[in-house]
Amino acid sequence: MDKIIKNGTLVTDTKTFQADIHILGEQIQEVAQGLSIPGAEVVDATGMLVMPGGVDAHVHLNLPMFGTVSSDDHYTGHRAAAFGGTTTCLDFVPQDNKTLAEDIEAWHKRADPLAAIDYSFHMNITRFDEKVAAEMAKLPERDGISSIKVFTAYNHRLRLDDGGIFKAMRVARDAGILTMLHAEGGDVIEVLVEEAVRSGKVTPLDHALTRPAWGAVEAVLRASALAAQAEAPLYIVHMNAAGEVDQLQYAREQGLSVMGETCPQYLFFTSEKLAGKDGAGWVCSPPLRGKQDNERLWQGVQNGVIQVIGTDHCPFFLNGGKEILFEGKKVAIPGKELGEGDFTRIPNGLPGIEDRLPILWTHGVGTGRITPNQFVALNATNPARIFGLYPKKGTLQPGADADIAIWDPTISIQYGVKEAHMRTDYNLYEGWTMRGMPVKVFLRGKLIVDDGKWNGRAGGGNYLRRTAGNTIL
Ligand code: URP
Ligand code: ZN
Ligand code: ZN
Repeated sequence: MDKIIKNGTLVTDTKTFQADIHILGEQIQEVAQGLSIPGAEVVDATGMLVMPGGVDAHVHLNLPMFGTVSSDDHYTGHRAAAFGGTTTCLDFVPQDNKTLAEDIEAWHKRADPLAAIDYSFHMNITRFDEKVAAEMAKLPERDGISSIKVFTAYNHRLRLDDGGIFKAMRVARDAGILTMLHAEGGDVIEVLVEEAVRSGKVTPLDHALTRPAWGAVEAVLRASALAAQAEAPLYIVHMNAAGEVDQLQYAREQGLSVMGETCPQYLFFTSEKLAGKDGAGWVCSPPLRGKQDNERLWQGVQNGVIQVIGTDHCPFFLNGGKEILFEGKKVAIPGKELGEGDFTRIPNGLPGIEDRLPILWTHGVGTGRITPNQFVALNATNPARIFGLYPKKGTLQPGADADIAIWDPTISIQYGVKEAHMRTDYNLYEGWTMRGMPVKVFLRGKLIVDDGKWNGRAGGGNYLRRTAGNTIL
């Protein structure tokens, strides 16, 4: 059925303008002023902002970790994402089985029946040999996966050595796959953690103190150098330290195809949170840093050194021993309390899939740090381009999927765990004011969020096959 979103102010990555949008079936048919289609359903967007649905390139749903799992699965996480205006997300397949094919099949089993927004996968490469290399080359054509993630930390668990990263980058390059990097200094972390535990320094703050920023800074430069030598593109995930931005800027000035992503938690918070009450609720890897890091990351976001804001959504309960009422049912999932008295056992990760757009709208655009068009670029268009989803996703042009968020810029609320839909018992932005929220969200033309009401369904999200070749921004 035809729909028209009428009288709204459209915000794209480059322009803000008045226009109507004609949706035919699942796609945008036309964008123009004064559209009128006999029999079409009209959605009046007078006084509203109309933007492409968000693309979150970095989430971890139902991820097994430290004897528990991240507490949002592919249904609860996707649903929460949609309430926050996000209509596409990409999560990471762990390399746990003998073959990548088995890993991917296992992840489809978790995700496909539950998916409520459109989604795709990145493949973690945490073990590398000739067999893995051969399978990696098939990922785009066989599995629709055109990005891998490698790690310079989590020694003996997820880390590849530099030679392995270099080899993986070359295979990825030849297969048209983008290499993503978790940048931390694994060897130093091992030493510091062992020393801290031996001397009884086991608080949440000690988690951060054993993962110094210099390790991340050095890892960004080293991986950029490896990418240069492999003649491969590189994408640094969850950038958190000022020096990382400096290294990324340097790499880009040398003409390297290196890109970067940061997350709201690294823009708004510092490691002081770890020293406070409920410090475990702020434990993530890489850790929160200092004020000057927040500021330098904002600069990177503003001047284009950083191209993407993702969430690294990897939520846990603060107190998984205590049930909460979630969507009318009692739920408790073991979480941060597992690390009581020992930071090495705290499952690392933070909630954020729903918060990203409202927070960045109010506290990024609203504070003049970024423009509305940068907001769309960083949160939708750029990730869609980099990860091979554009122009299907991340844009409002004819032919694109009708993934659209209608924002009411006049809404003003006190935000927090009660307003949010993520399956956890706390919220990073408790008590923060939000001015402007998505009120209607369309996924491929279907109105899945309608003024606080959920119309989506498990299984309603499509798996997005991505082809070889990535856009470098
Ligand atoms: O602490 C975090 N970020 N957990 C998720 C896994 C990762 O390294 O991104
Ligand atoms: Zn990571
Ligand atoms: Zn992550």
